[in-house]
Amino acid sequence: MTETVNLHYTDQGEGLPVVLLHGFPLDHRIWRDQIAALSTNYRVIAPDLRGYGESPFKGDTFPMHLLAADVAAVLDVLDIDRAVWVGHSMGGYITMAALRTLPERVLATGYVATHPHADPAEKRMQRIQSADKIALEGGSDLILSMMGVLFDPALNRKSEPAQRVYDIMQHTKTGALIGALRGMAERPDSVETLQNAGVPAVVIAGAQDQVVEPDIARTFAQTIDAPLHMVEGAGHMVMVEQPDATTEALESFLQRVSKR
Ligand code: MLT
Repeated sequence: MTETVNLHYTDQGEGLPVVLLHGFPLDHRIWRDQIAALSTNYRVIAPDLRGYGESPFKGDTFPMHLLAADVAAVLDVLDIDRAVWVGHSMGGYITMAALRTLPERVLATGYVATHPHADPAEKRMQRIQSADKIALEGGSDLILSMMGVLFDPALNRKSEPAQRVYDIMQHTKTGALIGALRGMAERPDSVETLQNAGVPAVVIAGAQDQVVEPDIARTFAQTIDAPLHMVEGAGHMVMVEQPDATTEALESFLQRVSKR
């Protein structure tokens, strides 16, 4: 297995450890408001995944279980055995990979705008083709097309949340785009892993999400018997579009986990 890398991360607050994992192609700054709010009661750790933000880049393909191992290496450094893993979109796939390969490190799971299914063949092929195109031409077309689908259509693209997300995406290294696209393409289905996980879970979704549509989120929550928070006025970037509602949903879940 390829070696882990030393991720850049923030570590704020004290108490139950909560890891916030960003999606593709972003970095830990998408969680800015949740880090500030949740760290008054919890220890909030927010890494930049391999190749993203300030974390080092390594490898041609980033399998989800390898990205999960990078996160577990952060927990090792911090001397934390088990944490609540909260993942946005690809961060959710990484959380599912952690349940599959490192279940002893996972206390509870939060899924934000994500789903447990493997890619259908056509989607897998699109990801590989997109990775090949980015290797030749760079990632600006992909970033622009993502800007078209990441938010509630009603959100002004010049608003602070949209511009913050655009700025983060624009600075993503080409190799990290390629590595994650290839890694997501090869991820397995996680439904059975989640159904057998035996840890508390919550699903948070944007009611206007065009990437993980509300019906997929509803079915996901039902399939794993988890509470669902459907956030109005939010697309795929629910934590930046509706930061307070996202924090409240996470906070009520963490209170429940703390009482166990
Ligand atoms: C993400 O937001 O992490 C990605 O859209 C996930 C995906 O492409 O499946």
